[in-house]
Amino acid sequence: MIFTDTHTHLYSEEFESDQAEMMQRAMENGVQKLFVPSIDSSYTEKMYDLKNKYPENVHLMMGLHPCYVKPETYLDELAFVERELEKHKFAAIGEIGVDMYWDKSTLAIQQEAFQKQIQLAKKHKLPINIHCRDAFDEVFEVLEKEKGDDLFGIFHCFSGNLEQAQKAISYNLKLGIGGVVTFKNGKVDQFINQIPLEHIVLETDSPYLAPAPYRGKRNESAYVVLVAEKLASIYGLSLAEIATQTNKNAQVVFGV
Ligand code: NI
Repeated sequence: MIFTDTHTHLYSEEFESDQAEMMQRAMENGVQKLFVPSIDSSYTEKMYDLKNKYPENVHLMMGLHPCYVKPETYLDELAFVERELEKHKFAAIGEIGVDMYWDKSTLAIQQEAFQKQIQLAKKHKLPINIHCRDAFDEVFEVLEKEKGDDLFGIFHCFSGNLEQAQKAISYNLKLGIGGVVTFKNGKVDQFINQIPLEHIVLETDSPYLAPAPYRGKRNESAYVVLVAEKLASIYGLSLAEIATQTNKNAQVVFGV
């Protein structure tokens, strides 16, 4: 069985000592397509190294993470994103969006950077990968301005309610479902079966948000299978059916 992890920080410092073994475990578990979001320019070389090591399996995104949108540097970082997009082939623009959990003071420039990067995605005909933490209204405000047939992608680590899920889908976005769906108080498991499976993709967001029974520990892409198992029980489908449909959904978004 083959699985797709649509959001995994494979270059994280947390994998420094055992990256090869971690990748090996992913492959052994059938996790053969891995999509790697960008954070800022300081990680880009590590991302290219990964792509060189695993050219068939690893697919890179380019973008500036909302938590790294800082007044002193964000314009240079956005210019960097634009230059890299001209030089290399990417699967998406991400992760981009708004984060009101860590720093509310940068809301205006976070939204500005988000909107500019959506426009870059449109220019390059690429999907977007959205990071949204405590910021549904702020994210939807930008999406409302940029909505259209040329806007598409994934709402990464979706953690909202049913209404917010439907709204995200109305903007041509698939919902990235990860470890949170296995948490006792995660809430997403309560309603997600009301969302047709063609709108769902799997992700880990490793090294963060490990699914049960590894909650609180380091996450890794091999665990995407645990997310798929949970969805199989929620939707009353076989693991193979979840794998097939979510792979297809990821392929529709990324084109690979
Ligand atoms: Ni992430």
